[in-house]
Amino acid sequence: MDDWAVRAEGLEKRYGEKRALDGFDLAVRPGTVHGLLGPNGAGKTTAVRVLATLRRLDGGRAEVAGVDVARDPRRVRALIGLTGQYAAVDEILTGRQNLEMFGRLFHLGGRGARARAAELLERFGLTEAADKGVEGYSGGMRRRLDLAASMILAPRVLFLDEPTTGLDPRGRGEVWDAVRDLVASGTTVLLTTQYLEEADKLASRVTVIDRGRAIADDTPEALKDRVGGDRIEVVAADPADLAHVARAVARVCSGEPRVVEEARRVHAPVADRVTALTEVARTLQDEGVQVEDIGLRRPSLDDVFLRLTGHATEEEKEAVAV
Ligand SMILES: Nc1ncnc2c1ncn2[C@@H]1O[C@H](COP(=O)(O)OP(=O)(O)O)[C@@H](O)[C@H]1O
Ligand SMILES: [Mg+2]
Repeated sequence: MDDWAVRAEGLEKRYGEKRALDGFDLAVRPGTVHGLLGPNGAGKTTAVRVLATLRRLDGGRAEVAGVDVARDPRRVRALIGLTGQYAAVDEILTGRQNLEMFGRLFHLGGRGARARAAELLERFGLTEAADKGVEGYSGGMRRRLDLAASMILAPRVLFLDEPTTGLDPRGRGEVWDAVRDLVASGTTVLLTTQYLEEADKLASRVTVIDRGRAIADDTPEALKDRVGGDRIEVVAADPADLAHVARAVARVCSGEPRVVEEARRVHAPVADRVTALTEVARTLQDEGVQVEDIGLRRPSLDDVFLRLTGHATEEEKEAVAV
């Protein structure tokens, strides 16, 4: 299993009756970003914690850079980095002070710690803010500082557990750039995410996880192809008009329209986004059909799930039920 940065076979992890990992398989190529995509509760954090040796596994087998996580956890720990590991960068300290502190914690010595801190601040675009207190940092800057802290020892494999959740688009973009840089310099990244778009932007391969199992392992392109690209969505003001709406959508879409009655919504894949939108809007207006909402949507995790599992993510189910 030496050729893989991370390799897991049939991982099991139980919390009481709950099977958080239930035969989970994973294979991550060195020098890549590998996405682990799944909704809340799918088992992403558990998988990362088991692979990072923070939790003992109940069954199966896993290796990081060829080292067995159950038999040799200390050697594994020396090879990896994990964000969130240093739960708090200190608010009162500056970015530079935080990194120098971590460096000394890892026995780099005063001069070594200063040099490494400067190098990482530069790499993560924090040089300008280096001597400002972390309390004034934006969300994206904090996550980048967190990334930098986990890179103090230049890990072979870095685990990033939902590094952009809760960030605004700008902060998200900043973290994405930092991750790209890391991989360009040779680190392998296993990144968990709930966003198909994020997996698509960063990862060369994506494992989709549902209820503790891998249900797909593919390139982002292939996953998107399976889901069918962009969609048009129309919400009718009156449920009696749904059939009308479905017919209008059927004329322009590139696949079968689906009707979600409870939500008064019709959606379907479209090849030509703008034409589809204008055509449907015009047709419905001509026919006097009241529309509550009409728009285009890129495929999301919910779409992937529906396609792969035949069931929606829990959040989507709730959304439909409301
Ligand atoms: N410490 C724990 N004790 C009990 N159940 C847990 C614990 N950690 C996670 N779980 C459960 O295991 C499942 C997987 O959780 P988690 O790995 O955190 O998923 P994700 O990170 O994909 O949201 C969930 O059902 C969660 O409630
Ligand atoms: Mg999680």
